[in-house]
Amino acid sequence: MQSMYITTPIYYVTDSPHIGHAYTTVVGDAIVRFYRLAGTDARYLTGTDEHGLKVARAAEEQGVTPQRLVDEVSTRYREAWSLLDVSNDDFIRTTEPRHIAGAQAFLQTLYDNGDVYLDRYEGLYCVSCEDYYKEDDLLEGGLCPIHHRAVEQFSEDNYFFRLSKYGDALLAHIEANPDFVYPRTRRNEVVGFINQGLEDFSISRATLDWGIPIPWDDTQVTYVWVEALMNYATAVGYGQDDELFATWWPAVHLVGKDILRFHAVIWPAMLMAAGVDPPRQVAAHGWLLVGGEKMSKTTLNQIAPSELVDTFGVDGYRYHFLRDVTFGSDGNFSWEGMVDRYNADLANDLGNLANRVLNMVEQYREGTVPALSGNTESDQALRAAAANALTALGGFAGYRFGEALVDIWRLFGAANSYVEDNAPWRLAKNPEEADRLDEVLNALLEALRVGAILISPVMPGAAKRLWDQLGLAGAPDTAPYTETAVFGVFPAIPIARGNPLFPRIDED
Ligand code: ME8
Ligand code: MG
Repeated sequence: MQSMYITTPIYYVTDSPHIGHAYTTVVGDAIVRFYRLAGTDARYLTGTDEHGLKVARAAEEQGVTPQRLVDEVSTRYREAWSLLDVSNDDFIRTTEPRHIAGAQAFLQTLYDNGDVYLDRYEGLYCVSCEDYYKEDDLLEGGLCPIHHRAVEQFSEDNYFFRLSKYGDALLAHIEANPDFVYPRTRRNEVVGFINQGLEDFSISRATLDWGIPIPWDDTQVTYVWVEALMNYATAVGYGQDDELFATWWPAVHLVGKDILRFHAVIWPAMLMAAGVDPPRQVAAHGWLLVGGEKMSKTTLNQIAPSELVDTFGVDGYRYHFLRDVTFGSDGNFSWEGMVDRYNADLANDLGNLANRVLNMVEQYREGTVPALSGNTESDQALRAAAANALTALGGFAGYRFGEALVDIWRLFGAANSYVEDNAPWRLAKNPEEADRLDEVLNALLEALRVGAILISPVMPGAAKRLWDQLGLAGAPDTAPYTETAVFGVFPAIPIARGNPLFPRIDED
């Protein structure tokens, strides 16, 4: 069976988790849950990036040890992901012994293969970016173009990675693997960047303590980006557990567009230099903007996921970002947009449907509907909508979450029309229509059962609650969904109607 190893960036511990970090992490979770639901072995990795000058200085400013700072912030990320029902299989911290050992093994291999050498480094460095700049890249006054802060002059002996050697191999790989960089526009950007010519770059620092020592020279530690990228390999046993590594590598890396080059140029070149396959794919999404602007600490417009979960619930939260942000494009967050989406799709389309159906089953059939199915035109239309919804879920493999959810919601739309067309309240008044009423209620329960399965990658909690309310045993996310989410006859079991799934949110 094909296995899928999906990763998020490891987040800096100099920030707190906000809805931008959560976007990547929730998208990855929906994908990995989709694969598990399809019966594919899938592994999901996230974590925190804990070394570097920025962390060392932040700790100093706060008057704590770097270790204390990274322990505290890393925990906040873990808590955020647990709040959002993120089902990561692993959480890597770059300060863990397994990462340090694996990263050292990786570096040693690059060195032994002749792609790392010592040279003098003179240059300008932005500590906030943890990246080097050329004079030309800077704003007036020698400021970093991203942070508008003064860059620093560094001059020391450093180890360099021979990136220049890998331009042709990278281009060939991209050519041979059209989906290696996703989406297409990002692929063109990467090709353009490589075509400008790649330069070797420094991968170590002599004047920094908070990092991983270079194995053959303990006066130097690795430079933050190179070290961070290796987490994807060290988390699955690189240099330590070859069998584990072979099981999962190569990975699919989900990243924001800000860090595409590191993942689609530098990292694959490092892997090639180490004799390891490049990643399966690097998929870059756009920015989540707040009021049209990028979130940042300085503009004080960062939103923590918990602020939204309080109002919308975890499921409302996850649904909104998957439904309304097109993967690859920038998306603008607005409170009003989120309320509207929640009320229309969750409270109305799905929540009311479930509530109405369960209510009628209690009222007309004391909670249990006989296993009877009909075959009228409207029955057929409902089945067709269910079959379409099942096919649509496959779009998750290609990052088409919004489109897939629109099609899955057509099933709920079809079920709502089915209620109107068949008017169970009228059938209930006529004893001669008893069988038809059973058929109609059965079809509606069945539509909800199929729906619960199909929404489970996006809303695992709500899917399970709906499942329980339908009186079904087990869970909606049992693989493979291509067999379980097929429209059939709902079993004659008692339902267990509970609280409304998605209480309406007041506009104010
Ligand atoms: O770059 N919209 O960490 P980081 C969408 N440690 N996504 C956003 C976002 C926004 N406004 N803001 C952040 C680093 N992200 C390095 C990564 S990986 C080997 C090392 C997400 O904490 C997006 O995924 O700055 C982006 O790429 C990532 O957070 C950057 O996280
Ligand atoms: Mg960043």
